[in-house]
Amino acid sequence: MDERTLVVEAARALEHAYAPYSNARVGACVETASGETFCACNVENASYGLTICAERAAIFAAVARGHTRIKQVAIVADGLTDAMPCGACLQVMNEFGVERVILGRPDGSYETCEFSSLLPHPFQL
Ligand code: THU
Repeated sequence: MDERTLVVEAARALEHAYAPYSNARVGACVETASGETFCACNVENASYGLTICAERAAIFAAVARGHTRIKQVAIVADGLTDAMPCGACLQVMNEFGVERVILGRPDGSYETCEFSSLLPHPFQL
């Protein structure tokens, strides 16, 4: 799927963000190796540490459907300086072979990064 479409889908997921504590709304759309897409948003909790990031929720939704290879991840953030994934999400992306991360904005503009430039030295067992 083309990058622009993934960004549009991520922006749609952002509309459902549950972020009453940070007011940072994030949406993500992942494309699996077989070309299917899964979207999610960040979901916060009054017990802050229970919050799940949008991209991790989208990856876990893909895995729950049996997809353990993920090609690319588009992230759109509103209320944050940029849509750069956190370290925990990068480590989860590494687990499932993400090759590219698309950092999008609500206006539809985006930049594409090679995953290896974001996490050049992932933790490996
Ligand atoms: N957040 C994400 O959804 N993805 C990230 O990679 C970084 C942070 C969310 C979590 C929380 O709801 C809000 O952004 C502020 O940290």
